[in-house]
Amino acid sequence: MTDNVRTESESPTPTQVNEKSDMVSKWFPRPQIQIKERLPGSAMNKKAMNRFAILLSAVVLTVAVTPAAERPFPEIMKAAYAANGGVKKAMTDKDNAKISTEAIKLKAEFKAMEKYWAKHGKADAAGWSKMASMEAGNIVKALKKNDSAKADAAFKAVGGTCKTCHEAYREKGADGKFLNKIKG
Ligand code: HEC
Repeated sequence: MTDNVRTESESPTPTQVNEKSDMVSKWFPRPQIQIKERLPGSAMNKKAMNRFAILLSAVVLTVAVTPAAERPFPEIMKAAYAANGGVKKAMTDKDNAKISTEAIKLKAEFKAMEKYWAKHGKADAAGWSKMASMEAGNIVKALKKNDSAKADAAFKAVGGTCKTCHEAYREKGADGKFLNKIKG
């Protein structure tokens, strides 16, 4: 008798099961089935489908266009600076997972920089950006192999490219703010 009770209490109660399937149907309604059922010849349904197609292509367009539009350079630089600081802090904290997340962000910003400089015909700066994005990637690779010394070395190399490029292309305006020598 007692055995029976125990088994029952271990399996989900009917209420639990119901809650679960309610959740499933709430989050995953079955649109395929509904569309199929409604498809034949209904004008309303065609309209709805057309609307959906328009909406869908708008979404696809937005996704396709956004990365192509160039972000202003200072925005890229600020994001790179933030990610660089993130790597630095995570290295002090010896938080490898966080180092990698920040290094991946940093890599993406250097890729954006590379495009910017290439577009403005500055092969040297595009080259430094490319090198920096590779080194940021090397941080992640080194950590996958638990090689912190290699990750540190890659991060130093990244820092070197920041400095090289600043010496070549960054200047201070009269107001003390940093400017881009190519005024892009
Ligand atoms: C390929 C060139 C290049 C690289 C690489 C580069 N920078 Fe810059 N950076 C610039 C230029 C040009 C400016 C000045 C224009 C500006 O501020 O947007 C600048 C400005 C800055 C500023 C001042 C932002 C402001 O306007 O307040 C900071 C901070 C900065 N960089 C940090 C970094 C760090 C950190 C790295 C490396 C992780 C780095 N940069 C790598 C070219 C570069």
